[in-house]
Amino acid sequence: MSSFKTIEWKDGKVVMIDQRRLPGEEVYVECSSYEDVAKCIKEMVIRGAPAIGVAAAMGIALGAVDSAQNKEGFFESLKEVSEVISKTRPTAVNLFWAVKRMNGVIESNRDKSPTEISGLLVEEAKNICEEDIQICKDLGKNGSKLITTGMSVMTHCNAGGLATAGYGTALGVIRAAVKDGKGIKVIANETRPILQGARLTAWELERDGIPVTLITDSMAGYVMSKGMVDAVVVGADRIAANGDVANKIGTYSLSILAKSHRIPFYVAAPVSTIDFGCPTGDLIPIEQRDVKEVTHIGDKRIAADVDVFNPAFDITPAENVDAIITEIGVYEKPYEESLASMNQ
Ligand code: MRU
Repeated sequence: MSSFKTIEWKDGKVVMIDQRRLPGEEVYVECSSYEDVAKCIKEMVIRGAPAIGVAAAMGIALGAVDSAQNKEGFFESLKEVSEVISKTRPTAVNLFWAVKRMNGVIESNRDKSPTEISGLLVEEAKNICEEDIQICKDLGKNGSKLITTGMSVMTHCNAGGLATAGYGTALGVIRAAVKDGKGIKVIANETRPILQGARLTAWELERDGIPVTLITDSMAGYVMSKGMVDAVVVGADRIAANGDVANKIGTYSLSILAKSHRIPFYVAAPVSTIDFGCPTGDLIPIEQRDVKEVTHIGDKRIAADVDVFNPAFDITPAENVDAIITEIGVYEKPYEESLASMNQ
């Protein structure tokens, strides 16, 4: 387990570590309204697909508690809360999965009072958070079987405790392999433009005593060509039914590099990241973010004043993915069939 709390429900508020300020400062943000939570998701105080899902659920719970006094307009208010939360970020499907699960609680308890319903929503949000920790541990155990002693594992972005309720998906596999005594080391790509690898992955691995070497994204090919990488393990924001994977920008390039160097490329994600309603990756919405992420570091401009393109995610085709590691098992190609078997 990681040694910090990514997000928790505390005294009727949602408290989250401010990931924008890591690794320099360990500061916690307190949200007392669903609008606060929506802002935190949008501005990436909290980020990472499963963590966004937990935050969405807690945001809806906060909105429900706040609206419970307004008996007449209660269900209308809840609808508005779900809409606002759903518009925060478009790519990670865990957000929509969590909103749907919270709406399921509302629908099956419509005969109860607003106070009772809001109490049930708070419980459900806490459950989603608790469950995520167990899911990541199970996923980690499954993934550890693919990792052998002494391996050097490359990862991209942050798919760790900070991106989940506290254990991690890609870093969950790494944590489990370390726990299994496999003596592995990690190569973390810095992950331009906002450096989730350099700031977050490096920080949480170092803190947990897991050996990590940081490289810039453009060094990945060279490092692979020198035989310094035995496997790549990344997380996912959304997996289409055919196994195409949306993940942090740069993941697609890594998958091609890995293929060319015959290095296994694994994706670690909970089942809630699979969007069975989305047949292929080209239908996954890709978030475009503020160009300032590319042109500036903090308030300082580092780029010439030209047009900028800043997609936050890319699509790795299923053919480049050697296995999808989940909490219920490890799935291989052809993904149309292996992933569909989950639903049977
Ligand atoms: O933009 P971010 O930081 O939310 O993107 C996060 C990623 O791309 C992660 O790799 C993904 O969400 C998996 S997290 C377990």
